[in-house]
Amino acid sequence: MPTPSSARMHDVTIVSNEPIASDVYSLVIKAPKLAEQIQPGQFVNIRVPGNAMSLLRIPLSYASADPVEGTVEIWYSVVGDGTRRLSQMQPGAQTDLLGPGGKGWNVPESCSRALLVAGGIGAPPIVCLARELSERGIAFDACLGAQTGEKLVGAGELEELGAGEISVSTDDGSLGLEGFCTEPASALLATGEYDYVATCGPEPMMAKVASAAHEAGAYCEASLERMMSCGFGACNTCAVETTSGMQGACMCGPVFNAEEVVW
Ligand SMILES: Cc1cc2nc3c(=O)[nH]c(=O)nc-3n(C[C@H](O)[C@H](O)[C@H](O)COP(=O)(O)OP(=O)(O)OC[C@H]3O[C@@H](n4cnc5c(N)ncnc54)[C@H](O)[C@@H]3O)c2cc1C
Ligand code: FES
Repeated sequence: MPTPSSARMHDVTIVSNEPIASDVYSLVIKAPKLAEQIQPGQFVNIRVPGNAMSLLRIPLSYASADPVEGTVEIWYSVVGDGTRRLSQMQPGAQTDLLGPGGKGWNVPESCSRALLVAGGIGAPPIVCLARELSERGIAFDACLGAQTGEKLVGAGELEELGAGEISVSTDDGSLGLEGFCTEPASALLATGEYDYVATCGPEPMMAKVASAAHEAGAYCEASLERMMSCGFGACNTCAVETTSGMQGACMCGPVFNAEEVVW
């Protein structure tokens, strides 16, 4: 018998919806029960009204949750019709979402130092995990990458959360190192100082990080993106090929043991 999804319907009110980088927004929603329940690495599937032709919800990770205020903060990139309509929603507007969905990060109890590697809008679940590591007193370093400096998010939050070293890379060299964040990540992993690695971003980036973590003997988890129709295990659109067969990212992920993913 498959485990039922933890996702439930929540009515939400938009508290704020502001740009934080080029084509990247921070959305804060009031959703008290969700804020109490959601765990780092889990996601929500939000309904964005305004297009009768568009029935699908949008799966989004979250960057932080405040159970006292009853709010959840989401960072999203505007890439198509749904996220464009989301960016136009004003404070006070109401909608609903399904959440919390899926399985989040599973940092081993024995973890002594972690390396976090995020590319582009892969940053929110990584920042969320950094908060958990900080609360658990686990040291961590981070490598962040983006196409350009204008699109980079998360560096300030990781610094506030106590990251030891933060390496920033941009494809065009407009901020930090020029090139992909896999280069500094591989160099840091080669020091052998890490026993846990978490990564979220473009799949080729995560595959490289997983390979470098394997060589360094560090346990690595990756948060995978798939098209998601239902978000709770009913439609089979979100399949991920793993060493034990196809698994749905919305129920068995989005965070997977990187060793078990067929990259
Ligand atoms: C578990 C999960 C967590 C995610 N977390 C975030 C997040 O925190 N912030 C964020 O900005 N985005 C996140 N995404 C991606 C986000 O869901 C898509 O960008 C969004 O659905 C695009 O919707 P749209 O209608 O604007 O674009 P569309 O017009 O539907 O598509 C625009 C482009 O985005 C691609 N796309 C559409 N849906 C997805 C999807 N589910 N995954 C990957 N690519 C997609 C399309 O192939 C197309 O190239 C996440 C996706 C998943 C599966
Ligand atoms: S999104 Fe429907 S089964 Fe995963």
